[in-house]
Order: sequence, then C-alpha cells, then structure tokens
Amino acid sequence: MCGIVGYIGANGAVKEVLLNGLSKLEYRGYDSAGLVCVENNRVFYERSLGRVSNLESAVVKSKVLKLIDNKASFGIAHTRWATHGKPSKENAHPHKAGDIYLVHNGIVENYKELKEALLTVDGSIEFTSQTDSEVLVHLISSKLDSNPRRSMVEAVQSSLNLVKGTYAIVVLNIVSGEMVCACNGSPLVLGIADDEGLLVASDTVALIGYAKHYLRLADGDVVSLSPKEYVFVSGTDKEVLELEESGQTSSLGGVFGHYMLKEIYEQGEVVDRVVNNKGQIYDILPKILKAKRLIIVGCGTSYNVGLVAEYLIERLSQISVEVEVASEFRYRDMPMSEGDVAIVLSQSGETVDTLEAVKLCKERGVLTVGIVNVEGSAIANACDAVIYNKAGREVSVASTKAFTSQLAVLSMLAIMLGECRSSLTTIEATNLMSELSNLPAVLSQELDRMSKQMEDLAKKYGSIENIICLGRGVQSAIALEGALKIKEVSYINAQAYPSGEIKHGPLALVDPNTLCIILAPKDELYTKSLSVIEEVKARGGIVIAITTPNGKEVIQSSDGVVIVPSVMDELLPFMTILPMQFFAYHLALLRGCDVDKPRNLAKSVTVE
Ligand code: M6R
Repeated sequence: MCGIVGYIGANGAVKEVLLNGLSKLEYRGYDSAGLVCVENNRVFYERSLGRVSNLESAVVKSKVLKLIDNKASFGIAHTRWATHGKPSKENAHPHKAGDIYLVHNGIVENYKELKEALLTVDGSIEFTSQTDSEVLVHLISSKLDSNPRRSMVEAVQSSLNLVKGTYAIVVLNIVSGEMVCACNGSPLVLGIADDEGLLVASDTVALIGYAKHYLRLADGDVVSLSPKEYVFVSGTDKEVLELEESGQTSSLGGVFGHYMLKEIYEQGEVVDRVVNNKGQIYDILPKILKAKRLIIVGCGTSYNVGLVAEYLIERLSQISVEVEVASEFRYRDMPMSEGDVAIVLSQSGETVDTLEAVKLCKERGVLTVGIVNVEGSAIANACDAVIYNKAGREVSVASTKAFTSQLAVLSMLAIMLGECRSSLTTIEATNLMSELSNLPAVLSQELDRMSKQMEDLAKKYGSIENIICLGRGVQSAIALEGALKIKEVSYINAQAYPSGEIKHGPLALVDPNTLCIILAPKDELYTKSLSVIEEVKARGGIVIAITTPNGKEVIQSSDGVVIVPSVMDELLPFMTILPMQFFAYHLALLRGCDVDKPRNLAKSVTVE
C-alpha cells in the first residue's frame, strides 16, 4: 500500500533520492505519487496519477514553486493507494497547508469530526482533496497559527493526540526545513545516510544505496529530524541496526517477462532454503510441543497456507488446529487459553489485520510464533518467536513462492511435531523429510512442461468468464489458493469449493460456459474426485483436471489434463499448486492484464 520516503541532509540531488526511494516501494501497490522538495534553494512540488515514472516526467518539466534561503536539502515523497477518495492528482500526497506539507500512511478514522471542528474555528480553511489525510496537515498548520511560538514538533504532537486511527507521517516545513515523523500502527524506519543526513521510509528497501544503518520506529514514536541528528520527542531511542541488502532487491535479470513467473520458478530454491534452515524450527519446537491447540492466523494466501497446514498438522501430529482469517479474528471473541499457541503467517510482516491478531493473542496470554518472510518487519518484531521462511523478496503482488516456502516450514513443523508426539514413527518422519528435501530436484524437471501445458490450456479456455476450482481434503485449500490467483491476476470470476460442496449449491452455476478445475491426484480421495468430474460433465461443464500419472480414469474423462509428479500424499499440495499458479499467470498474460501489479491491489496491506 502507500509508501513514504523523506530525506534531510547534504545530498543536493534530493529529487533523485526521493524518486529512487519511491521506485523501490512500487512493489507495495499504489495508484498515484507525489513529492515536495527543496533542492539548491528551489522548491519543487509535483503530484501525478499512475506510475512513479509519470511523477518523474512531471518533475522534470515542473517549474520551481519558490526560491528560499535554506541551504539544506530536504523533501518528502509518497505513493498513494486510495482509501478515502478516488485515485487522482488532487488526492495524491503530499498534502499542504501554507508552508507545511505532509505525507501519511494509514487511516484517520475520525477525520470527519476533525474537519468539522477545524472549519468551525476557521471557515476559511480550504480542503482540496477527498482524503482523510489532508485533515492532518490543516490541523498541524492551525496549531502553529494559533500559537506562533509553538514548534512544529509540538504542533504535530498535539494534533496526533486528537487522531483516532493509524498513521505513519512525515511533516515538513519547506521554509524552515523542520521535519518531523511519527507512527502508530503503520511502519516507519529511519535511515542514517552514508553522507551526512537522514532518510525516513516505510520500508528499508527504500534506503538501499543511501544508508547502511537504520532504526525501526515503534508505535507512539514522534521524532524530530535535522541533517545532523534525530531526537525522539515521544518514545525512546532505538537500537541502530545494520541494513541487510541481500535478499531485499530482486530483478528480472532478462530471463523472465514478469516477477510472477520468475517467482513461480524460484519455488524449488525456496524449499531448499527452508530445508537447509531447519535449525530455526527445532529451536522453537519445544514451545510448540506444549500446545493443546494451534491457532493459525493469516490473510489471503497466508490464510490459504494455513488451511493446507491444518490438514497436515492434524494428520501427522494429532494436534488440533483452528485456522482463522486475521481480519475477522479480533471481532470473534474466540475463547483462548494458555494451552494455545498462535502461528502467525505473513509474507510481508506488515499486514495490519495480522499484526492486530498478534496483539490480541498476546493480550490473552497466548504464545505467538510468526512465520514471516521479511526480516525485522512489524509482525516479526511483535511475535514472541519467529521462523523466517526465507523466500527472498517477493515482488509480484500475487504471492507464489511465499506460499510454497511457508508451506515448507509448516510441513517440516508438522513432521517434527508428529515424530516428537509419536504419532509418526521415526522411519515415517525420515521418509517424509527426505521426500521434502527432494522436492526441489523434482520441481526443476517439471516446471517448463507444466508452464507450457497451462499456457496451451489458457489459450483454449482464456475467454471463459466463470471458473470453479474444486478439491477434496487438503486439495480444497489448493482450490481456494488457485482461485485466488486466477481472480487476482486475470480478473476472471473464479470461485473455489471443497468438491463435496458442489451439490449443495454451486452445481447450479455449471453449464457449457463454466470451466471447472478439479484437483484430483491419485490420493485416498481419488474416487470421490472422479464422481465430481462425472457430475460436472453430466451438466455440460468443461473439466480441466490436475492429477498424478496413475490417475488414468481422470485422464480419460476430462477435457484437459495436467499431470503432476507423484509424491507422498502429504506433499502433493507442493505439486498441485503449480499448474494453478501457471494457469493464472498465462490467463493474465493472454488477457493483457498487468500481471505483477493487478488493478486495485497492494502487496502490503497496511490499513484495515
Ligand atoms: O504479507 P501477507 O502474507 O500478510 O499478505 C496477506 C495477503 O494480503 C496476501 O497473501 C494477498 O492475498 C496476496 N496478494 C495473494 O496473492
């Protein structure tokens, strides 16, 4: 979602620092961008709709807003993902009130009351956007107007005291050069520039190239910034951390046309990395072993991984598992006790709903174990213990390799729990572990073929507007994840159901214009899947089946088939997800969709 970059210091090329930072934040998803900066005594202020490259062009052509005496270089920039008010130049940040400019991530929930109160005191205040954020800059400005002896940092603090909601803000006075940042519920990091100066950003990736050290701000922090120092006006000073650059960036490297395809192809590597880092799972195992119940929480793809893990953990270790959508979790009032352990899944480590779920679990005395991809992220920091799933930076909004790496962690955990609790023999556990270790080799041989087959099927059925994905047992979770991928990137209406549910309603949708993708590997539920294929065919529906080489009956009765390698039943989800991901990718490509940055979606969902 929204991205923030700010800079104050000695680097004269502020526009370049800010625009580079924004480009690195593009992966988060946004619809407009803007900046204000002082460079060589000249002030530039530009906002534009669409990509950062549009802002770049606008900045190149932009006229100097005014000339000022301040010798320093400073500025703030933002990518906006619309919440309040449509994507437009007027709604893009920074917002301004006189010489004060502000960028904001999060949501000001009481913005209407604050706006009314401001207008009651001063009816001449002109609001120029539909955003909740603009009220903040007017609030700060009015605090300064009402008491000229007040510093900007004081004005920011007393304004924030009135705000209900979440925020990461950077506020700038373009004339005095005062810069203040603050956060509560939205992430913010402070980078110590290699040359003199400071950077502030919503993600460490924006600091790369300019800073080697950084601090992560905590909720409630208010920090005043100058080229030479930062002062915590609220909150306590934080440990300075070294910026880990490896794994933070990713490039297409000329081989792949899109990150989504590249990341699908990286899935063998990510399993390998998880298998080779089993130490971090062993370290946490004793704590999880004590659990009477595991509560798995996540959103989107992370939630779907949880559903797959529910089958695995219950089957292999006989520990009872509840999987919860994080966005509903805090409204459930679910009974929890000390015998529970929460496993929190998040690729980005920033998803606000998931972060709130962590806080709730901790309030209730439940141990939280994060499985997180981004090191040092808010969720990783908030959990009592963390396992990193080491997928490397995932750029495509549609999550693929993060799914597989989270699943690899959870599969290993399920096997280890099973062995420790004696619901698996050592031989069974060893066999499963060794098959898991062998998956990267299997995958490397199969990906090209699967991609080609799914491309052909996408060409054949790409004009269809309704897809139903069906699976039985653990494959019902793969059906859900496959349908999520298809709708996210190709915008085709794809639904998913456990196969057994089709007779209870969805069968009414099936006609010759409906494509059913049926996950039917030759596992213990194979014959049930066969019956579903027959039921769909009997109503004229089109069937693409995903099965294993021994699924002869499925192969014979389907309109299209993709064969995935036979592996142990427990590990089949690693195989069956692949054709689903490839199908979504090729459908999106054929339909001319923006594969890596699907419309309306963001990579990091930092608002509720
Ligand atoms: O970063 P997280 O794993 O917490 O993100 C959760 C979801 O927002 C995410 O999985 C989303 O559903 C993806 N776009 C799915 O491809």
